[in-house]
Formats: sequence, structure tokens, C-alpha cells
Amino acid sequence: MTVFLSIQEVVKDFGASAGGAAFRAVDHVSLEIQQGEIFALLGSSGCGKSTLLRLLAGFETPTSGSIRLNGQDLVKLAPHERPLNMMFQSYALFPHLTVWDNIAFGLKREGLPKAKIAERVEAMLKLVQLGPFAQRKPHQLSGGQQQRVALARSLARQPSLLLLDEPLGALDKKLREETQIELVHILKSVGVTCVMVTHDQEEAMTMASRIAVMSEGRILQVGEPRDLYENPATRFVADFIGNINLLDGNVAVRPEKIRVARHFPSDQLQALHQVQGRVRDIAYFGSYTVYHLQLPGGQTLKVSQSNTERHPDEALREGDQAWAWWSPSVQVVLAP
Ligand SMILES: Nc1ncnc2c1ncn2[C@@H]1O[C@H](COP(=O)(O)OP(=O)(O)OP(=O)(O)O)[C@@H](O)[C@H]1O
Ligand SMILES: [Mg+2]
Repeated sequence: MTVFLSIQEVVKDFGASAGGAAFRAVDHVSLEIQQGEIFALLGSSGCGKSTLLRLLAGFETPTSGSIRLNGQDLVKLAPHERPLNMMFQSYALFPHLTVWDNIAFGLKREGLPKAKIAERVEAMLKLVQLGPFAQRKPHQLSGGQQQRVALARSLARQPSLLLLDEPLGALDKKLREETQIELVHILKSVGVTCVMVTHDQEEAMTMASRIAVMSEGRILQVGEPRDLYENPATRFVADFIGNINLLDGNVAVRPEKIRVARHFPSDQLQALHQVQGRVRDIAYFGSYTVYHLQLPGGQTLKVSQSNTERHPDEALREGDQAWAWWSPSVQVVLAP
């Protein structure tokens, strides 16, 4: 596959011109993104995600480094000359315009003929399933519907690259989860290449074909969701994506890969790691339960078990002595 978006050694320093010490918001970032990918930038607040997106959109200029789309040098182009569209962290719709006019806005500014505009808007309304709402104003829509209008507006000009900054940030958890899958379907049906920003690891895992984990302006690891989860390279990535038990300094085990019970099964033939401890906490989440096992050395082992039975015979209780065991093959060795 050929590279569609190529980001090479991009640096962004803020504040150098003001006489004060420069702050490096983006630190030698290199990424190669394929056509049609949904690529997520994942990291905690302030790590530089929006800045990197703004560099792609042209609202910031890199201090150094290069950004190429389909071989074309983007840095030389003004924002409106770039074949891309950005949906901002707070995707403000125009409150006084109808859904229809919100979607048509960019097309009108572009000076497209009326018939062409109508055709595109109708196609977008159909895509995001908002046809019946075309004449409503944004305040007459639910949060999820407003989000879809914003998406339709971003896609209306048929960008080859779509930049989404926390696209679902304004939605509550439940609606957010429903919309994630819907959004992926829409993006895939259009076939647009997408770079999205999120600080929500579950959202990145659900939506993205690949994820770059960012911290303090740097990319720590890039990979498919499963790859990052099962083979985190560093402690930061392991901790940031899901939960992990750190044993012996740099050996780690995911909680769901550990079994826990009052008795160690006598029929276990494989060589397993096993530890005994006391159940200190039990957190019940419905479909699974998380046990905190206090080990003799003082360490706490987190074990997550799916609740496949409704009334298990030997349910553990707080204070119980219990065994935990796992196969050596599930252990991950992390770089320091
Ligand atoms: N124009 C600016 N001038 C100076 N510093 C800035 C500017 N824009 C951003 N920064 C700083 O750069 C860092 C990265 O900001 P950025 O907005 O990219 O973070 P983010 O990862 O998008 O965070 P969030 O998840 O909170 O949106 C922050 O420390 C921020 O204060
Ligand atoms: Mg941001």
C-alpha cells in the first residue's frame, strides 16, 4: 500500500517569539497513514493532539518537519487550499440556520451551482439519516443528531482527508458508544481517510484501524488496537490502554488473563504461575467482576473475571483466601 498522508519529523514550538522559553507541543512526530484508514491520535489532555491536527489543517505552521498528502506538500498551502476538512473539538453549528443550510454552508461559500448544492445536501442528509429533520434548527435536535449534522457539514465538500477533533466529546457516555459504530459506518461508506483525536481509549479501540498513543508531544507507539493492547511496548502504553498488573519490575499481566478461585484447580497440567492472596475488594460491573487480591508481599493483583454464571457455586467474598493463576504465555515484558 502507498502512503497517503505522510508526516515526517514534525515539531511545533509555541512561545519562542514572545521572548520566553519555547514550549514544545509536538515533538518530532512521524506518521504514515494509508488511504481509507480511520487513524486515532490517543493521549491525555494537553499531550498535543489538537495541535497536531491543527498543523494538518493549516491553522498552525510547523516549526520544522514536513507534511505531505498524496505526495503534495501541505505546509505550503493555506488552510482553504488543502483538500481536507476539520471538525473542531466543539463543533458549533450555526444556531440560526436550518440543518439543510448548515450542511450547505461550505458549498455555497465555494460557489457551487445551486442544483449541485441541493444534490450534495440531499445526499448528506440521507447518509446521516436526517432527511426528515432538514428544516429544523440545531436547538430542535438531540445531541447525537447535532453531531451528525456537523459530520454531514464536514463531509459535504467531499474532502479527501477528514480531521475529527473529539468528534463525540459533546455526547454522554451511552449515546457516545452508540454513535461510535454509526460514525465508523458512515466514514467507511464514504471511504474518506480520517485522522481523529480522542482521549478515550475505548473510543479509539472501537473506531480506529490504527492508533498512535501520544504523550508530551511525542508518539510512543503506533499499532492496531489489538496489537497495542496485547503487545504494549512501554509501561505508559500498557497503563494507558486498559489495566495491567506489573510484576517483578517489567513483567505485566492483564487482569482478564488471570483466573481466581478459592482452590487451585488440581487438574491443571500446564506449568502455571500461581500466587495466593486475600481478597481485599470486589467490584461488580454486571458482565464482569474485578477482584483485588492482596499478595503476601503487599502488592495488589487485579483480576477481572466475566460473570458467565448467574449464581456461581463458590463465589468469592471479601476477606477470603484465594488462588490466582495464569499461563506464562500471557505475560508481557515491557521496556522501562
Ligand atoms: N497557541 C498556543 N500557544 C501556547 N501554547 C499552546 C497553544 N496551543 C496549545 N498550546 C499548548 O500545547 C499543549 C498541547 O495542546 P493541545 O491543545 O494540542 O492538547 P490536546 O492534546 O488537544 O489536549 P485536550 O485533550 O485537552 O484537548 C498544551 O500544553 C497547550 O497548553
Ligand atoms: Mg484537544
